[in-house]
Amino acid sequence: MPLDIIVGAQWGDEGKGRMVDLLSAQADYVARFNGGDNAGHTVTVGDRTFKLHLIPSGIIHPHTIGAIGNGVVINPVTLFSEIDSLRSAGVEVNPARLAVSYAAHLITPGHRALDAAQEAARGRGAIGTTLRGIGPAYSDKVARSGIRLGQMLDLEVFREAMLSHIQAVNQRLTGLYATEPLDVQTVTQEYLDFARQLQPYIQDVSWMLNEAVKGGRRVLAEGAQGTLLDLDHGTYPFVTSSYPTAAGALMGLGLGVGCVERVIGVTKAFQTRVGAGPFPSEVFGEAAVRLRGTGEHPWDEFGTTTGRPRRVGWLDMVLLRYAVRVNGLTELAITKLDILTDLERVKICVAYRQANQVFENLRFGPGDIADFEPVYEELPAWQEDLRHVRSWEHLPLAARTYILRIEELCGVPVRLTSVGPERDQVVEIA
Ligand code: IMP
Repeated sequence: MPLDIIVGAQWGDEGKGRMVDLLSAQADYVARFNGGDNAGHTVTVGDRTFKLHLIPSGIIHPHTIGAIGNGVVINPVTLFSEIDSLRSAGVEVNPARLAVSYAAHLITPGHRALDAAQEAARGRGAIGTTLRGIGPAYSDKVARSGIRLGQMLDLEVFREAMLSHIQAVNQRLTGLYATEPLDVQTVTQEYLDFARQLQPYIQDVSWMLNEAVKGGRRVLAEGAQGTLLDLDHGTYPFVTSSYPTAAGALMGLGLGVGCVERVIGVTKAFQTRVGAGPFPSEVFGEAAVRLRGTGEHPWDEFGTTTGRPRRVGWLDMVLLRYAVRVNGLTELAITKLDILTDLERVKICVAYRQANQVFENLRFGPGDIADFEPVYEELPAWQEDLRHVRSWEHLPLAARTYILRIEELCGVPVRLTSVGPERDQVVEIA
């Protein structure tokens, strides 16, 4: 079957961009299906590092065609700035190489202003959103009052839609949140300019991808965020407003179930999260600095989109098993195995304890795990530098034991692990 889906198996930032980059070598189409410019995908190719938020990172391969599906919310400011920076790095981006779905929704300055006002109003209960307007844009979509990109094809229709949208936002900003309103005319004018520029990119992405699939072309669906941030399957309410899971790929691209071949879950060798919400295997102090890094390397655990230090902890197998289940993962890819080198011991959370009860699987999903205590298993550590290892046999025995234990605990094969940030720093596992 011609469709492979890459999803994050944790709370985002798993290193999906790298896996996408690797797998796009065999793909004809690379497609983003969820989220918006809240995502941050870093891809390093030689001495060039690309940080992409919206455009599928597989587009860096010159033979691919990029697509942004109906499930995505689009901030045109980010879209055009990424198009410019890709072009200046020599990557060709034009309407023949990038299609954006007519059914994708627009993020406006109104959505961003509402995101900021809502977070401020939540006070101590703030979600810690990326403030990119994601929640308000999807809320408008669900309330059937959003603006779809297809409306940009008729500038008069679009102008009317923008005017009434910004007016409605202003009523909420001033009435509900006592904040400054936006300038209706300026924003509308700016967005009319974007509409003119975006028109040639707007297509029926579902049709395009279905035709591709029928013609035997390979499609790679590139997820943003991760399973535990999924609106339905994540740690609700500390989630994003889209569907980063495998079903979200089909929904967000307009493809059928029958196309799917591989569903690849990407997980770090440990656990990270940005923003608020439960995290049972979180570590603090020295142990956290060891896993997070200090920020001096590009691979240290600081957000690509917001620069915030990430919360860090040991790999949580209860949650990983859950991700295998809700996505129907066929395999796993483990990133950042090299970061665990030279630890005194490697721990892995294999179960939770609550009120003297131990359980290995979640009863009601991950929403209410805040006061669960992790039950750890300790595994042998390794001291060897993994960054030059390229084959399974050359991995230290303790690193192989770690990977085999992960496989055993979640019941799917680990096909690949990365041992450094460069494109070739991977070990394929037969
Ligand atoms: P939002 O998507 O901006 O509404 O943020 C909701 C939650 O998802 C917050 O905890 C964010 O930190 C988190 N989040 C959103 N996008 C990403 C991402 O790409 N990586 C990791 N966390 C994310």
